[in-house]
Amino acid sequence: MASFIAFVTIISLASSVANAQSNVTRGSSLKPTGDNTSWLSPSGLYAFGFYPQSQGYAVGIYIAGIPKRTVVWTATRDKLPFTRNATLSFTSDGRLAVAQTQGQEINLIDTSGAYIASMQDSGNFVLYDTTGTRVLWQSFDNSTETLLVGQRLLPEQILFSSVSETDQSIGMFQLIMQTDGNLVLYPDMAFLGSAYWATGTAGDGPNVTLNLDSSGFLYLLQNSTFFIRNLTQEYPENDALYLLKLDVDGILRLYYHDLSNMSRNGAVRWASSSNKCDGKGLCGPNGYCVVENDATRCICIPGFEAIDVGCRRLGCRRTYTVENCKIPDADTAIQMTNLNNVALNEATYAIPKAPTQDQCSSACLNDCNCEAALFTGQECRLQRLPLRYIQVTDNQPNVALIKVYTSTVNNGSNPTNQSIHIKKVREKKIMVIDYDEAILEEWMYKCYEARELLKLVDYDGDVELKRLEQMVKIGLWCIQEEPSLRPSMKRVVLMLEGTVKIPIPPNPTSFLSVV
Ligand SMILES: *[C@@H]1O[C@H](CO)[C@@H](O)[C@H](O)[C@H]1NC(C)=O
Ligand SMILES: *[C@@H]1O[C@H](CO)[C@@H](O)[C@H](O)[C@H]1NC(C)=O
Ligand SMILES: *[C@@H]1O[C@H](CO)[C@@H](O)[C@H](O)[C@H]1NC(C)=O
Ligand SMILES: *[C@@H]1O[C@H](CO)[C@@H](O)[C@H](O)[C@H]1NC(C)=O
Ligand SMILES: *[C@@H]1O[C@H](CO)[C@@H](O)[C@H](O)[C@H]1NC(C)=O
Ligand SMILES: *[C@@H]1O[C@H](CO)[C@@H](O)[C@H](O)[C@H]1NC(C)=O
Ligand SMILES: *[C@@H]1O[C@H](CO)[C@@H](O)[C@H](O)[C@H]1NC(C)=O
Ligand SMILES: *[C@@H]1O[C@H](CO)[C@@H](O)[C@H](O)[C@H]1NC(C)=O
Ligand SMILES: *[C@@H]1O[C@H](CO)[C@@H](O)[C@H](O)[C@H]1NC(C)=O
Ligand SMILES: *[C@@H]1O[C@H](CO)[C@@H](O)[C@H](O)[C@H]1NC(C)=O
Repeated sequence: MASFIAFVTIISLASSVANAQSNVTRGSSLKPTGDNTSWLSPSGLYAFGFYPQSQGYAVGIYIAGIPKRTVVWTATRDKLPFTRNATLSFTSDGRLAVAQTQGQEINLIDTSGAYIASMQDSGNFVLYDTTGTRVLWQSFDNSTETLLVGQRLLPEQILFSSVSETDQSIGMFQLIMQTDGNLVLYPDMAFLGSAYWATGTAGDGPNVTLNLDSSGFLYLLQNSTFFIRNLTQEYPENDALYLLKLDVDGILRLYYHDLSNMSRNGAVRWASSSNKCDGKGLCGPNGYCVVENDATRCICIPGFEAIDVGCRRLGCRRTYTVENCKIPDADTAIQMTNLNNVALNEATYAIPKAPTQDQCSSACLNDCNCEAALFTGQECRLQRLPLRYIQVTDNQPNVALIKVYTSTVNNGSNPTNQSIHIKKVREKKIMVIDYDEAILEEWMYKCYEARELLKLVDYDGDVELKRLEQMVKIGLWCIQEEPSLRPSMKRVVLMLEGTVKIPIPPNPTSFLSVV
């Protein structure tokens, strides 16, 4: 303890901030740069104020007493960062507000009536009323992604991970202290069955809380005295500062800072998982995570590419797309590619009889709605895209079979050139082969134009002309040479239903005459 005090004294002095005041009164203000960027706790360990984020500044609480700034709470996480011009004020009516442009104020903490603001050594920022005793607001009740010593995660409270280490906006993972007593980690959208870690304490009642004490002991209490789950033990270190954080990668970690030895800071004492890829959906739809040299890497499933390499959680999309359920032309090759040891959040729409992997591949290949299949060894489960929460781990028995489209003309490296190229090849084909067909299309169009539709069918005296005309019109739209002119499947359905009007189709072979 003695060395802790000594240490704290050193930082208080070293931080050389003249106003290391713990109690802030109305009228005080802070700026993102300069001398007064934050209000420090009495020992100087914690600070409330501006810190750099993205292209600007955020307001929050950070550990000021260690070399690497560690943010533990952030105000208005999902607002744009503030500019250099911003001023944070403890207003005369007792709010904390930021003014950026003349006359415009954003309330950070909207508790009018606060009289004293206090940055405490526990890391709790508290607003008191005029008596100085009643708490109007405290950051410990407004957790972001970190739980500090003495702070409790109460029933229904949530920790949300950050977007990145340097951007504290709300990220993709959440830790929920549920009212059934279970403490659960969920990916982006919490829904039944998507949890990837839990304490398994469901049923222990509505008042279970998560607690962290100064020795690093992390535990669940059923009521004020009754322990139901000890997640860690007490650690013997002196001068230690512990904090629990839901990290950017979705893993819950207990960090340890040694206040008497800076070179040991930031060590992980405990984690909800030792596998850095365990955060479900870390690589987004159609992507999965692998650990390489102790770091994570995102990989797209076969035939897919990253939507944004700078933001892997957006996932992956096809490198080559074929219009939904359109029979691809001869320039497109379709094959099934397999990815072994896969688990995923299934979106099964059919389970055809296909008892072998080859039969499962064929079943998907022959179904235009099928994008992928999960073969379990017994069952063939046809899937729609996107494939979510893909995990590739040794102990998974299932095989994902993915439909991959490739151009036989060009391997798909340059889509623009590719389509030009394909078009050229098709033109040639129409001239040489696809000619009979062109004549057929032209004849069909002529019949349509001349309103001689009955020539198109084997007349058996029972054709509803109006319906036939509709079909022919839709058919003419669907065989348009220019893909962008062809209606989507959805639109075709609406046309068939009569929900939307069918416009007059252009002559599908008109381009042939240009050639
Ligand atoms: C910083 O705050 C202190 C105490 O409130 C004040 O005396 C000083 O003038 C401020 N400095 C600047 C540059 O505003
Ligand atoms: C910041 O303030 C300066 C001077 O008042 C002004 O010229 C500038 O436009 C402001 N910048 C922003 C981003 O508001
Ligand atoms: C506290 O956190 C919630 C989100 O959990 C947020 O909506 C609310 O604005 C926060 N309140 C304050 C005063 O920061
Ligand atoms: C700060 O305010 C709190 C609440 O009124 C009070 O208990 C504490 O003694 C004050 N601290 C200082 C250093 O004035
Ligand atoms: C939970 O806490 C509330 C409020 O303190 C109390 O009324 C209720 O009886 C508690 N429930 C159980 C099951 O302990
Ligand atoms: C806490 O819960 C335990 C077990 O359910 C019970 O025996 C004990 O009386 C409770 N204590 C309080 C203060 O509610
Ligand atoms: C959890 O820790 C507390 C405090 O050390 C202890 O009293 C309790 O027996 C422990 N419970 C379990 C299940 O280990
Ligand atoms: C501080 O920690 C480092 C790394 O664990 C160790 O090598 C060093 O001896 C420690 N220094 C002191 C003064 O304890
Ligand atoms: C194109 O694909 C074929 C078959 O997959 C492959 O053998 C060939 O190397 C690829 N060519 C290029 C340029 O990528
Ligand atoms: C592909 O596109 C690039 C850029 O527009 C162009 O320079 C190149 O010549 C094209 N290649 C072919 C084969 O058309």
